[in-house]
Amino acid sequence: MRPLTGFAFALLISACAPHTVPPAATTTEAQATAPEALGDLSWTKGGMVAAADVRAVEAGLKVLRDGGNAVDAAIAVHAVLGLVEPQSSGLGGGGFMVYYDRANDALTVFDGRETAPAAATADLFIKDGKVMEFVPAWQSGRSVGVPGQIALYKAAHEAAGRADWASLFQPAIDLAEDGFEVSPKLAEALAEPRLRGAIRLDDNPVTAAYFYPDGEPLPAGFVRTNPAYAATLAAVAQDGPAAFYQGPLAADIVAAVAEGPDGGSMTLDDLANYKVVVRDAVCGELQTGYKLCSAPPPSSGGVAQNLIMGLYEYLKPKAKDVDESLYLKAFVDAQRLGYADRDHYVADADHVPVPTADLIDPVYIKARALEAFAPGEKATPGDPGVVLGKEPLRPMWGEDPTEPGHGTTHISIIDLDGNAVSMTATVEAAFGASRMAGGFLLNNELTDFSREPTKGGKPVANAPGPNKRPRSSMSPTIVFDEGGDLFMVTGSPGGNSIVAYVAKTLVGVLEWGKTAQEAAALPNVIARGDTVGVEVDVAGGPETAQALRDFGYTVEERTGENSGLHLIVVRERGLEGGADPRREGAATPIR
Ligand code: GLY
Repeated sequence: MRPLTGFAFALLISACAPHTVPPAATTTEAQATAPEALGDLSWTKGGMVAAADVRAVEAGLKVLRDGGNAVDAAIAVHAVLGLVEPQSSGLGGGGFMVYYDRANDALTVFDGRETAPAAATADLFIKDGKVMEFVPAWQSGRSVGVPGQIALYKAAHEAAGRADWASLFQPAIDLAEDGFEVSPKLAEALAEPRLRGAIRLDDNPVTAAYFYPDGEPLPAGFVRTNPAYAATLAAVAQDGPAAFYQGPLAADIVAAVAEGPDGGSMTLDDLANYKVVVRDAVCGELQTGYKLCSAPPPSSGGVAQNLIMGLYEYLKPKAKDVDESLYLKAFVDAQRLGYADRDHYVADADHVPVPTADLIDPVYIKARALEAFAPGEKATPGDPGVVLGKEPLRPMWGEDPTEPGHGTTHISIIDLDGNAVSMTATVEAAFGASRMAGGFLLNNELTDFSREPTKGGKPVANAPGPNKRPRSSMSPTIVFDEGGDLFMVTGSPGGNSIVAYVAKTLVGVLEWGKTAQEAAALPNVIARGDTVGVEVDVAGGPETAQALRDFGYTVEERTGENSGLHLIVVRERGLEGGADPRREGAATPIR
């Protein structure tokens, strides 16, 4: 493995003091496991599960201890998260899983992204001749995409799982039947007046009865049972995805989507026809020797993370002993350029042309780095077609106006054979579309499309369309070292900001010599559009904001950031985990 630099960024290093990590977020290192305990003798670093709730982490660890692999564990972890963290993801949503199979040195992406119904058109969010506002669109039946999560579980399990399918759901079924303690984060979200004012969770009788019994939000510590969730999972455990995509549960989903306000067009056929797409990961080679792999379009991961890290390599200071804030500036400029390209070009490549390979071509990245915009200017998209001597690409699309929400979670797992899963899952905005069926919430993922289908007289790449998948910022990422060995598994929730959050862990670990936990705890810096968002209510945040203002950037001070980074770094001595202190999770090794 290549030695990492010991670079310490003075403005940011203060955020890394251990006291900034609250006790709920554990950072742990796996002891190297004795080789005879391993299924594959070439892997001696143990296993780890990192996710947003300790009950989910424990379910995953049990699967690994019982002989299951990373795919098995991810299913068990996510089934628990769907119950205990329903504001973020669940059975009614979708996600992307990147799976590394160590024995075959192979990467596979399972695209379980929610899909627009067959009857959806580019005008999905046009009502009475006007573009619907975000909140009414978010609460509408029109926003619900055909869920992909259960189909993703099955596709991944059939391709790579090792444990008994039905056993993977038992921890979640037990918790749903016996009751789970409402976490402080869930209680906080349910009681939050602005969120409560915006969403229909306590107007809709089904969700009100579940989340607001007697009209009051569930308090932290309340033991909530969910027999309907247990029944759904028991049916899926027995009959597989057919129990979800056909029959009475499918009919309940269609009915919940059809309800007002602004019921959606999803049909039983839409559910029955849902397919996971198995795709190749998008991988780029960094100059430092790392290979960075993430999900392909409609995910932004592979394109955006390779662009940002590739641009950073050109933009970072080359001289030694320079003002360290120049490294921060390089990261900000790399993000500004990367976001502008991501916004313009990335969409569902099964429906529109996406120049994935051109956007991460080193020749394009080198040329794009020279376009660094002045801090006061808005970064605009580049044109890989022009740079690479092909047809111009930029004029094909109108400017992207997509505005996604924040209901997502991320799971990173390395199993005892050195296989890895990076899976980000979502219901789009918090609590999705505020509609329930079968004990779970339905997503509002279709608001990840641009609600405006055209801009400046041109179509927007990420406009809605029949059976199309909305663009996602989700960036489940796996990094390999220059010897080709597994080095890092990372990802985060956070809507549009996911791209910046995940890039922060990449630059933190690969470039700035941070540990996994230090990288997760760094202040969030989101450089998209004409402002730079800086998280100022964490150590190092105010200094970071000031440094960027001094360069001339327009800084938007942010508090209450909702990243949820869960990452694992493979070190010589074992696995190093990081769990975002902004959430309630853990990165826990097998003991
Ligand atoms: N719904 C969040 C995302 O897919 O980017």
